[in-house]
Amino acid sequence: MEKVIDEQKQGEALVLEGAQANTKKLFIESYGCQMNFSDSEIVASILAKEGFNTTQSLQEADLVLVNTCSIRDKAEQTVRKRLEKYNAVKQTNPKMKVGVLGCMAERLKSKFLEEEKIVDLVVGPDAYKDLPNLIREVEEGRDAINVILSKEETYGDISPVRLQSNGVSAFVSITRGCDNMCTFCVVPFTRGRERSRDPQSIIEEVNDLAARGFKEITLLGQNVDSYLWYGGGLKKDFEKASVMQQATSVSFSNLLALVAEAQPKMRIRFSTSNPQDMTLDVIHTMAKYPNICDYIHLPVQSGSDRILKKMNRLHTREEYFTLIDNIRKIIPNCAISQDMMTGFPTETEEDHQDTLSLMEYVKYDFGFMFAYSERPGTMAARKFEDDIPLAVKKRRLAEVIALQLEHSYHNTKKMVGQTIEILIEKESKKSDAEWSGRNSQNTVAVFPKQHYKVGDFVMVKIDSCTKSTLIGEAVGYSQSPQPPKGV
Ligand code: SAH
Ligand code: F3S
Repeated sequence: MEKVIDEQKQGEALVLEGAQANTKKLFIESYGCQMNFSDSEIVASILAKEGFNTTQSLQEADLVLVNTCSIRDKAEQTVRKRLEKYNAVKQTNPKMKVGVLGCMAERLKSKFLEEEKIVDLVVGPDAYKDLPNLIREVEEGRDAINVILSKEETYGDISPVRLQSNGVSAFVSITRGCDNMCTFCVVPFTRGRERSRDPQSIIEEVNDLAARGFKEITLLGQNVDSYLWYGGGLKKDFEKASVMQQATSVSFSNLLALVAEAQPKMRIRFSTSNPQDMTLDVIHTMAKYPNICDYIHLPVQSGSDRILKKMNRLHTREEYFTLIDNIRKIIPNCAISQDMMTGFPTETEEDHQDTLSLMEYVKYDFGFMFAYSERPGTMAARKFEDDIPLAVKKRRLAEVIALQLEHSYHNTKKMVGQTIEILIEKESKKSDAEWSGRNSQNTVAVFPKQHYKVGDFVMVKIDSCTKSTLIGEAVGYSQSPQPPKGV
């Protein structure tokens, strides 16, 4: 789910309209994946009840919170730079308190309080409900920390405030944590065991968003296909649940259907799918409901069976191809995107060629590509030497990115001449006379505003394109969502 966030939003301070009785000012910014942005909305909701309104001005903040990412070393360096900036501001406003939230808080724990003198508060991803107590500790002059990971916490009972929302699209988290233990990944350590949220609270949140005029939701989890609700508890304990609980359990495909039926006029997206956990049921459910978007983010990381195994990705290249073939058969127009990693320990040129040939087979619509970054404490860091020189990682990465750009262009060009449904999200970055929105497949389109407005579903005739953006003209409102997909 990484990077799907608009790059410009990374680190942008999030603001919510002021509750009148609130007097204290919270500056909160988020880095990393969509889940972090979603978590910050939960945090703002908890703190609104504690008398905090959000502000965009760092200088006037009483409390500064940064929601952090540990996925690669670079992500952590970005946060360290922000901490330096807060420190500079703190010199002029000594009463200001600074807290670190999220994955870096969880990974570094009390080290933050020892090493980074500027930090007053350290709170892991499962401890946000403890924030009111922790803030009181800080206000009384003590450092405060809670990095306890939970087996139950899903924040299902908290109604997130929508920070800096366009009023059109919202995230709804459905699972927390991850049990997959990919050997390179820090997430299972920073976000803990996988838990699924009560479907009732998910539907209530979706219904509430619909009532407030939202048009699109993205169901979020590190591994959404693994969603399983049987009345609480960890997925691994499912076998121990009662017969009744098992019989009435809700799988991800069940949940998708429930959400799609609850709000047939809303677009439904989800992220992220793990190939080993994605079932045919999910693909058939997507095909059945016209309001579930034709887009799957399906990270693969490598095209080499040997590397996939070392990464503990529990599928082969061939199995991945079978999944891709099934998606294409059942939903012919489905867009597919990848996460890819170059330079994992021992990766040879041959392995790298396997990655490129896998990409040729799939011809992904989008991609999020990274050079391997060793993360302390992970299985890969403990067992494999980080033996691929940075220059080689970067050269391979450049080749993967170049090929992806070619494929993105190839797929975007195919849409020129078509008339497609676009949900208007915001003004185009390039021109205030144009709207920007996405089609079901997640490709961005820009077109003259005419009389249309944000939140409208419109039919846009595509006249041309850049490498990844469609350019066209609106020709009328859409009967949203588009007709069934012919199943
Ligand atoms: N399942 C998660 C994965 C989060 S990490 C999800 O919701 O998408 C997002 C991507 O970051 C991964 O798919 C992987 O391509 C990349 N990544 C993870 N750990 C990495 C590491 N140690 N070095 C480089 N890239 C990494
Ligand atoms: Fe990380 Fe693999 Fe889970 S990439 S978040 S351990 S699916």
